[in-house]
Amino acid sequence: MLEESYYKKTDGIIEHHGNKPSSLIPIMQDIQDEYRYLPGELLIYVADKLQIPLSKAYSVATFYENFSFEEKGKYVIKICDGTACHVRKSIPVKDAITKILDLNEEKHTSDDRLFTLETVSCLGACGLAPVMTINDKVYPSMTPAKAEEIIELIKEEEKQQQLEPEEDLI
Ligand code: FES
Repeated sequence: MLEESYYKKTDGIIEHHGNKPSSLIPIMQDIQDEYRYLPGELLIYVADKLQIPLSKAYSVATFYENFSFEEKGKYVIKICDGTACHVRKSIPVKDAITKILDLNEEKHTSDDRLFTLETVSCLGACGLAPVMTINDKVYPSMTPAKAEEIIELIKEEEKQQQLEPEEDLI
């Protein structure tokens, strides 16, 4: 069950794009941008508001790979396992990240909701293989040790950010 604020936010998004069936995709896009995924409850809500059959809204959402029904972490790590990256040992990098974040085949997001790990087939930067991206940042020539270092650094930055408001109060 989603909090009321999700529906309020969605009402604003619908109002912005117009309450009409042709607004379905931009509305879903904005919801996903806001929450980093498309909650199923909001898909039902939007379909109802736009008076679109839910089956149609669902088939549009599943047609576009960009939409995800799974809640993602703040940092989406994409590890490339295309041919060039695979040959240059992307799998040990993926395995190291999986272990550090305590993930598995079914669990793609860390318990603290900071990281989501995805495997992709080519990031279009084969010359930099093996390649990893975190959100929009590209990391070339990855190794398991580098991946661990990067993740630890992000965790450290997150900790600092959480401490900062308290420091301001001192
Ligand atoms: S195969 Fe990895 S970037 Fe192309």
